[in-house]
Amino acid sequence: MSLEKIANQMVQSGKGILAADESTPTCKKRFDSINLESNALTRNQYRDMLFNSPELENYISGIILFDETFTQKDLSSGQLYPEFLSSKNILPGIKVDLGLTSLDSAKQEQRTIGLEDLYDRSSFYFSRGAKFSKWRSVFHITNDLPSDQCIQKNSEDLAEYALICQSIGLVPIVEPEVLMDGNHSIQKSYDVTSKVLNLVFESLSSKSINFEGMILKPNMVLSGYECSSQSSIEEVAELTLQCLKNNVPSSVPGIAFLSGGQSEDLATRHLNQMNLSTNPWKLTFSYGRALQTSALNTWKGQSSNIFPGQKAFLNRAKANSLASQGLL
Ligand code: 13P
Repeated sequence: MSLEKIANQMVQSGKGILAADESTPTCKKRFDSINLESNALTRNQYRDMLFNSPELENYISGIILFDETFTQKDLSSGQLYPEFLSSKNILPGIKVDLGLTSLDSAKQEQRTIGLEDLYDRSSFYFSRGAKFSKWRSVFHITNDLPSDQCIQKNSEDLAEYALICQSIGLVPIVEPEVLMDGNHSIQKSYDVTSKVLNLVFESLSSKSINFEGMILKPNMVLSGYECSSQSSIEEVAELTLQCLKNNVPSSVPGIAFLSGGQSEDLATRHLNQMNLSTNPWKLTFSYGRALQTSALNTWKGQSSNIFPGQKAFLNRAKANSLASQGLL
């Protein structure tokens, strides 16, 4: 399948992407919140509950997996997850970055790692059925951050990642995440997100990335979570769209937002609001927490809660499917 065809399938109407690629330490954090031990089996059981939700394929076009899950099996059929998901018409994807390292001696900023052996690792995933990949960079907002160096280095790395993945046949999800922790205003968030997206697309252009064969996964433009004045849904939608229109070429087929710590409900409402207007790209979701929080809290690691957990998960998936069409 061509890159363009996969990318269009990922953002097809009424569907979005489930980010289930929490690293082992992040998964432990999530499981700690429900007092569940995090080990290979419980992580397998949790993902199994989500992936077996009835008719999930009506709302979810693709799932981003973590390396461990990529080699785990569906508990009832014994199929490896990439195979199992493909048989359900859900595209299997893989997180290929290896997390973050300090960029400066003060350890304030981070650079994403994993480029050295990226070609070999990504070729392996491709040969085992992966159709797309993900690489996440992070940017902190303070009075003096993010630094130009941080934006520059991470943008170049995102472009190098996209180049390698496209050369293999994987659609790269390019994820520059500006974190919304802090008390900054929505205007500051707009300015930083604009600067980051501008440099990311400059780097992607300089490496001649095929825009039609990639997906952008940005943050929404929000007030900092500790800011005393929180913006309305309309303002978030307006500034996010303005920021994207100024920086993202219309040849990119789709933008799939991260939820970034928003509540499930707000993440859905913001997406719906943006889809009330006509936009140059498909606008959909690639949420982790905003799709999973209720499901995790309902499941609690108990096999007797699998069906209620799936129901909670499907509720979010359906609401976001509607929001991706402006139909909520
Ligand atoms: P959240 O939606 O929880 O922010 O996660 C999305 C993601 O993939 C972060 O890399």
